[in-house]
Amino acid sequence: VTILIAINDWDPQPWRERLRALLPDRAIVTPETIVDRSAVDYALSWRHGPGAFAGLPNLKAIFSLGAGVDHLFHDSELPDVPLVRMVDTDLRDRMSEWVVLHSLLHHRQQRMYDWQQDQQIWDEDVEQPAAAEIRVGVLGLGVLGADAARKLALIGFDVAGWSRTRRDHDGIACFHGEDGLDAMLARTDILVALLPLTPQTRGMLNSSLFAKLARDSRLGGPILLNAGRGGLQVEADILAALEGGVLKAASLDVFEVEPLPEASPLWRHPRVTISPHNAAISTPDTILRAIVDQIAAHERGEPLRHVVDRKRGY
Ligand SMILES: NC(=O)c1ccc[n+]([C@@H]2O[C@H](COP(=O)([O-])OP(=O)(O)OC[C@H]3O[C@@H](n4cnc5c(N)ncnc54)[C@H](OP(=O)(O)O)[C@@H]3O)[C@@H](O)[C@H]2O)c1
Repeated sequence: VTILIAINDWDPQPWRERLRALLPDRAIVTPETIVDRSAVDYALSWRHGPGAFAGLPNLKAIFSLGAGVDHLFHDSELPDVPLVRMVDTDLRDRMSEWVVLHSLLHHRQQRMYDWQQDQQIWDEDVEQPAAAEIRVGVLGLGVLGADAARKLALIGFDVAGWSRTRRDHDGIACFHGEDGLDAMLARTDILVALLPLTPQTRGMLNSSLFAKLARDSRLGGPILLNAGRGGLQVEADILAALEGGVLKAASLDVFEVEPLPEASPLWRHPRVTISPHNAAISTPDTILRAIVDQIAAHERGEPLRHVVDRKRGY
């Protein structure tokens, strides 16, 4: 078994080293070191260069090293083999931590208390609604969205979720499809985006969607949390909505252009909280162990799990 690993925008060294340590008997090659293209059985990608996987006649599958697979579709020469996305409990739990952290950050008004501390202001009289009075709406009820929704509900938030097809989760008000979206937005104070980036979802976090959020939030206005993909959001619309009072605040982990350009007004906006696309990053060891297990199972004749539906785009 020969494995081709192609990584751009991350340091490839720890990934290659870890993979070699996990599979000492296998040949591990990179697009630069590959000699015999017919020997390659599996390819691992994080934003591989277009064409890197073309002309591999015995390729059996391509594994994405991250949960999102939108990066794979930038390659117009992507071979017609199963695409496998990353599903992992460590990644899932880290994402839920980010969602819970930022929901509570806004709910408990921590940015304001940071400011008060800076100014040495002691003010006990700020209104503090209960979690049950705050309606959270999660866009995407997949592996990540469903877990985050469940954990938010455990804290006591009034949680709803939205998916493409109908889903049912205990304790979560579940909406689906286009009609379901408007109904969920109308009862949402904190909107959490955990959708994949597809032609259908690109740019959907825009002015028209923000205008549909509940106007009677106990937090003084709707709040946006996006840890899905930067392509989901229209940053000019987020800034306009913050200025116009359509949004009260935002926590963003992902951006239209990453790293976020120095000139972006989001950096210094007082009501925007930024993290550098690391809401849920996992170690090479965790991710590669999951992939190595899948390859071993596949070699034993078992079907691949978490295969992407190319038509849906996720
Ligand atoms: N910031 C980070 O560090 C980070 C880390 C990991 C992942 N992510 C992002 O998180 C995304 C979600 O991951 P996941 O593992 O939860 O994916 P998933 O299990 O595939 O779930 C995707 C969810 O989105 C819903 N959906 C997709 N297209 C839709 C549409 N057009 N309308 C309505 N709902 C739609 C799906 O609906 P159905 O249930 O009906 O299929 C599903 O509920 C990834 O694609 C990635 O972009 C970000």
